Amino acid sequence: MYDRFNRHINYLRISVTDRCNLRCQYCMPAGGVKQMDHKDILSFEEITEVVRVAVSLGINKFRITGGEPLVRKDIVTLVSQMASISGVNDLSMTTNGIFLEEFAQPLKDAGLRRVNISLDTLDPVKFSEITRGGDLTSVLKGIKAAKDAGLEPVKINCVVFKSSNEEDALEVKEFGRMNGLQVRFIQQMNLETGEFSVVEGGKGGDCSICNRLRLTANGMVKPCLFDEQEFSVRELGAEKALLEALNCKPLNGCHNRKGNFYNIGG
Ligand code: 5AD
Ligand code: SF4
Repeated sequence: MYDRFNRHINYLRISVTDRCNLRCQYCMPAGGVKQMDHKDILSFEEITEVVRVAVSLGINKFRITGGEPLVRKDIVTLVSQMASISGVNDLSMTTNGIFLEEFAQPLKDAGLRRVNISLDTLDPVKFSEITRGGDLTSVLKGIKAAKDAGLEPVKINCVVFKSSNEEDALEVKEFGRMNGLQVRFIQQMNLETGEFSVVEGGKGGDCSICNRLRLTANGMVKPCLFDEQEFSVRELGAEKALLEALNCKPLNGCHNRKGNFYNIGG
């Protein structure tokens, strides 16, 4: 389907939970977060219904995000349900990698095609600081498991403070080169002020070629990460919610004072 600016929209990012087992400084507010009510979180039936309707409207790329998707109970079942819908051509996941050692092979078997894994530094102490307690070794094991399972191409999301020439980013770049991983550098964004820029090595952040809509874990279709409009699939039905979001997709992202990365999906 095409939006008002004739951009071909064929990609839906689906956040399946606002929960996360990490607390990255740039993602989670320091003062803790108010979590969504369980009753507000879409069931697998509701999510797969949105996917079916999205396919019928011409969307064929889907990404599962969070929060951290691997903390959602029975996530492998959701992946297999989504993968079995004909028209779902590219099914991927963005994960922090902590649980990936255990999940990589089951996800692959369920029909997941590939993963993006967050990795901002190779220094275990800094990693623990940035993620407020995360264990780097688990992520490195997760990355290896993803490669071994054939969840390829394995892409690395590296959030940088200002530029990809920072020491940590350079180390991640080299790690990627040595291990056959595609590294994408994402400048730290600020949803409130609308500070964002083009993802180096990826497609995000370039409004002129944006092809995506987003579905939050509580069933809101959003036209853009940097836009406050949202349309409830529970209230409107999936088709109307998707089409409304499509039709108000802004030319450029602006700001978003209501959401956070952990509930909209990075
Ligand atoms: N700026 C840039 N990227 C962010 N992410 C989370 N918060 C931010 C932010 N403020 C990214 C994570 C991960 C993905 C889920 O979103 O690093 O790669
Ligand atoms: Fe969790 Fe990802 Fe946010 Fe870090 S960036 S707290 S891993 S959702």
